[in-house]
Amino acid sequence: MKKLIYLITLFYTAPLFAVATIAHDDSIYGTNMIENIPAYSNYGGIFTYLQSEWFSVGFLIALLLVPIAGGIHYFIIGPKVFSHDGKKIYAFNLFVRIVHLLAAISFIVLVPTGFIMAFGDTFGGGVFVRTCKNLHGLATIIFCISVFPILFAWFIRMLPGRGDMKWMLSVGGYLSKEKKPVTAGKFNAGQKAWFWIAMLGGIIMILTGAMMFFQNDALIAKFAESLGLYPIDLLRLSAIVHNILGMIIAIFFMVHIYMSAIAIKGAIYSMVTGYKEEEEVKILHSYWYKELQEEGKI
Ligand code: HEM
Repeated sequence: MKKLIYLITLFYTAPLFAVATIAHDDSIYGTNMIENIPAYSNYGGIFTYLQSEWFSVGFLIALLLVPIAGGIHYFIIGPKVFSHDGKKIYAFNLFVRIVHLLAAISFIVLVPTGFIMAFGDTFGGGVFVRTCKNLHGLATIIFCISVFPILFAWFIRMLPGRGDMKWMLSVGGYLSKEKKPVTAGKFNAGQKAWFWIAMLGGIIMILTGAMMFFQNDALIAKFAESLGLYPIDLLRLSAIVHNILGMIIAIFFMVHIYMSAIAIKGAIYSMVTGYKEEEEVKILHSYWYKELQEEGKI
């Protein structure tokens, strides 16, 4: 319970401490940092190994994977094209579109600045990388605002349901040019996977990011203590989780952009106007289409 209170306090007070902490230099982490790092063997070895050998490789793979796979998919199978002459089906209300826009803006800043920090050396460090770090922190505040409204707005529809397994096994019909109805409600299994990764993963990213950004803060030291860890170990663990989860989220984010802006022609407008094309709903969300018919909404 105590840990939960620390986490919640941290989540909501973190932005308030931002400015004060940037310029902070204390006796533990400041100029005496190296001498004051206790028990290197706890997580220091694994952290240094991952940081020096694997993280940059992982980020490079994450960066290239989706553009290459997306390019192959686009040129071999091609995007799905649905008629825009049929009825329009209202899918996303204004509130959802606004909070989604906030999440989108935050990620457009978070993902590239995260990559730049991961390759900080290559970018020559200095002011440019530090500015990216601060932009990364600011964009996190925007994400914090959007994450819970999205989580609550879509929670029920994103729970696993009938048809999800079948959708997974057929990869939602995306490996074929055929327009055959697939087993999905308002959201398909792929969209559900993205939702949970972005929401739960996003919250873990905020918390581990806060542990690193506010590493000098007394609250973090107390939280580490309550877990039986040295603050430096909490920092190392946070960095490991943040980096690995960051790669996974970045991959899913790029897939999300490919699916919503390229793989289904015109799908992006649904997040602008709120409306989806009838044919698209009939084929890609056949259970939802039936549900709407039964309710007499179409
Ligand atoms: C430039 C960035 C983004 C673009 C262009 C974009 C676009 C879209 C579009 C067009 C849809 C509707 C898809 C459909 O049902 O046909 C959608 C849905 C959704 N978006 Fe985004 N989005 C972006 C960023 C984000 C971010 C950052 C998050 C979460 C942190 C997010 C979470 C979702 C979720 C959960 C859905 C519903 C499920 C799905 O369609 O995948 N989006 N997005």
